Amino acid sequence: MSHDALLAELISIVGERYVVTAAPDTAAFLTDHRGRYTGEALAVVKPASTAEVSGVVKACAAAGVAIVPQGGNTGLCGAATPVGPRPSIVLRLDRMNRIRAVSAAEETITVEAGCILADIQAAAARDGLLFPLSLGAEGSCQIGGNIATNAGGIAVLRYGNMRQLVLGLEVVLADGTVLGGLRRLRKDNSGYDLKQLFVGAEGTLGIVTAATLKLFPAIRSRSIAMMQIAGVADALTLFAQARKTFGERISSFEIIGSSYMDFVLKYVTGTVMPFAQPAPWYLLLEVGDSRPDAPLAADMEAFLGEIFEAGLVSDAVIGSSLAQEEAIWKLRHGVTGEFKLAGKTMSHDTSVPVAEQPAFVERVEAAVLAAYPDANVMMVGHIGDGNIHVVVLFPHERFATAEAFEAASDDVDVIIDDIAMDLGGSITAEHGVGYTYRKRLARTKNPDELLLMRGIKQMLDPNGLMNPGKIFLPAEPA
Ligand code: LAC
Ligand code: ZN
Repeated sequence: MSHDALLAELISIVGERYVVTAAPDTAAFLTDHRGRYTGEALAVVKPASTAEVSGVVKACAAAGVAIVPQGGNTGLCGAATPVGPRPSIVLRLDRMNRIRAVSAAEETITVEAGCILADIQAAAARDGLLFPLSLGAEGSCQIGGNIATNAGGIAVLRYGNMRQLVLGLEVVLADGTVLGGLRRLRKDNSGYDLKQLFVGAEGTLGIVTAATLKLFPAIRSRSIAMMQIAGVADALTLFAQARKTFGERISSFEIIGSSYMDFVLKYVTGTVMPFAQPAPWYLLLEVGDSRPDAPLAADMEAFLGEIFEAGLVSDAVIGSSLAQEEAIWKLRHGVTGEFKLAGKTMSHDTSVPVAEQPAFVERVEAAVLAAYPDANVMMVGHIGDGNIHVVVLFPHERFATAEAFEAASDDVDVIIDDIAMDLGGSITAEHGVGYTYRKRLARTKNPDELLLMRGIKQMLDPNGLMNPGKIFLPAEPA
């Protein structure tokens, strides 16, 4: 089938309005969120139903055209950008944005892939429940993308990442088959857990069109504190102590390094340092309870008193109004947009076992500075999850060419990844692999596991039409 014939067929499936080909209208969907990659697509196609997605996939398969699914296009690794090796369409799920059902009795919600994360949170809240996935892009990212990338965020410690929140999935496979797995079961041991294959597969195995997700009791009282500490080892001591005091009520335990804090204070408008003096590290602790009258503020004060006595913190603040709580969180929230203003950044999403974080941080800082003494090594992360984001920042003019920057970036990747591997870590904890991290995955992933991954890809997508060029580097010629 020619490309023109394919476009005509796509129009017959979704309607002319929803097969977008004019350059000004497609531009926003061809560049990734970080602005690092721009690709090409025959069209941006916007189906309204699972049946239409299936029809689009069948038509593309017949024409040998690849499909790049795209949610809110807020991913950090270029997985949703059409930069693969063959002609493709971009498949947008925006029109599939219905909340199909909410069940308070079951604590479940069934949603279509194009639902915006914040809209799902709001729908759960209307029924007095919580959908706990929470991350910087929640106002525009879509749940299909969250599922495809196994998104993490700031409440993984308490509720798990996206993978743990999925009960059932509806997926369109590479041949157009609709895999109807929208079950609402809490327990299901009827063979392999197939839905989990598609969570974190970044659109390389199939297209998620709908999901049934877990809900939780709403949080009706909460307390947020920020602490100043001397080092990451103290953060772990404090984490253990906080666990004893608050148990499972800790939803976030985040760490911010001083250079990241300086960056935020300089570049994010409206941020204010809540302390008189700077400190090497800052911790953000949020605890929540479903009881409206839980004495969390008093518990938090007692906890801070104890750790202050023990000499573990030099200063601390409690958010005692919504505005203060928001001001504290503002010091932590996503700043990928601001990075572009500040210079050239190399961003990482490493995880290591929780107890290895002090070693990771110390070794990474020393090794990167030894190789690049002019680097600004910023660190921020989800220390309760063992997930530290290392962001290495250089001035705009530091590298004469894009190639020089890429070479240095590869070099820094190797430095950081070798330390992570040595400590039993992973090069990507929550951002996924996408286009950006393929080389690093190929270098670090256990070869037996990588081979098995390729086998699964081959079985589910024998013609290589589902988001090709992502996760895997092209295979070496045999
Ligand atoms: C964060 C994102 C970048 O934690 O994962 O800020
Ligand atoms: Zn993160």
